Order: sequence, then C-alpha cells, then structure tokens
Amino acid sequence: MCLLEQVTLAPLTKRSEVFVTALHQQEIGTKWIRSDQESVYEIRLRTQCVGFIMISTIKPEANLVNVAVEKPLQNLGVGHQAMTLLVRKLKRSKITQLHLEVRQQSPAVRFYRRHGFYETGIRKAYYADGENALLMTKDL
Ligand SMILES: CC(C)(COP(=O)(O)OP(=O)(O)OC[C@H]1O[C@@H](n2cnc3c(N)ncnc32)[C@H](O)[C@@H]1OP(=O)(O)O)[C@@H](O)C(=O)NCCC(=O)NCCS
Repeated sequence: MCLLEQVTLAPLTKRSEVFVTALHQQEIGTKWIRSDQESVYEIRLRTQCVGFIMISTIKPEANLVNVAVEKPLQNLGVGHQAMTLLVRKLKRSKITQLHLEVRQQSPAVRFYRRHGFYETGIRKAYYADGENALLMTKDL
C-alpha cells in the first residue's frame, strides 16, 4: 500500500493532544488555545498522528483555521491527501465554501492554490510583524 493510501483524518484523540500542541507551536509559531468553536482533526499515517487540521464551521461555510504536518513528512503529499479527505467530509456535511487566511509570503499559498483556493482579498499588515494576510476561498 502506498504512503498516501495510509493517510486518514480522525477527530483529535486525548493521546494526540500533547503532540498537536507541540506541532502547533513549532509549525504555526503560536500557542494553541483550544476553542469550542473549532473542530480539530488529527492527520494520521496508519495509526500515528502526524499532523492536524483545525476548522470552524458556520453552515454552509467553513473556515480553515490551521493545518500542519510534522517536518519530516512535509512535501510528500500527506497535506494534499489530508485536504482531499477534509473536502470530501465537508461536502458530505453540505458545506459549500471553505475560507482561510494565510501569510502572503508563506509557501503554503502555493499549496492552497493547487487545492483550488482563489484569492478574495488582502488584509494589510495583518500579522504582528507587518506581513499581509491573503484571504482565500475554495468552492466545494
Ligand atoms: C502546508 C503543509 C500543511 C502542507 O503539507 P505537506 O504534506 O507538506 O504538503 P504536500 O506534500 O501535499 O504539498 C507540498 C506543498 O506544500 C508547501 N510546503 C511545503 N513545505 C512547507 C512548509 N514548511 N510550510 C508551508 N508550506 C509548505 C509547498 O509549497 C508544496 O507546494 P508545491 O509542491 O507547490 O511547492 C505543511 O507543509 C506544513 O505543515 N507547513 C508548515 C505549517 C504551515 O505553513 N501551515 C499553513 C499555515 S496556515
């Protein structure tokens, strides 16, 4: 079985919380503060948690709050597969649009474009260091 067939999404389990908290700090650069408004999915490779996707939903739209894959597994298609699974899940829940905001200079912008996200706006100097945020949307 190829690597990507072994990627699944599942609601965050108690035993993965410490890992997700550390990964959020490392890859997003901020402390993860759990919110009731967000659904957190762990990205699993076989039985192992290797990343996360956080979304908030106000039907029929959803917001992709954050996504990360652990460093050694980045650029192998795991994120792509996880996004594909998420989109499938959201469509089943009758979500019609997925929005996000991302640092304008982030390599993740390309990742999102390849997933069919298009730019809908820009927030000037949105981040504390002065970088702009791009607003992006994908129609599901
Ligand atoms: C963005 C991310 C989730 C993609 O997952 P992945 O498994 O690496 O993605 P894939 O292998 O399917 O695709 C690779 C794409 O992700 C992007 N990417 C790779 N490493 C990245 C990194 N460290 N940070 C951001 N994007 C990255 C690349 O642009 C690449 O796109 P390309 O092939 O067009 O160059 C993952 O790289 C990551 O966790 N990055 C750090 C956290 C982050 O930037 N999250 C998004 C901020 S909201």
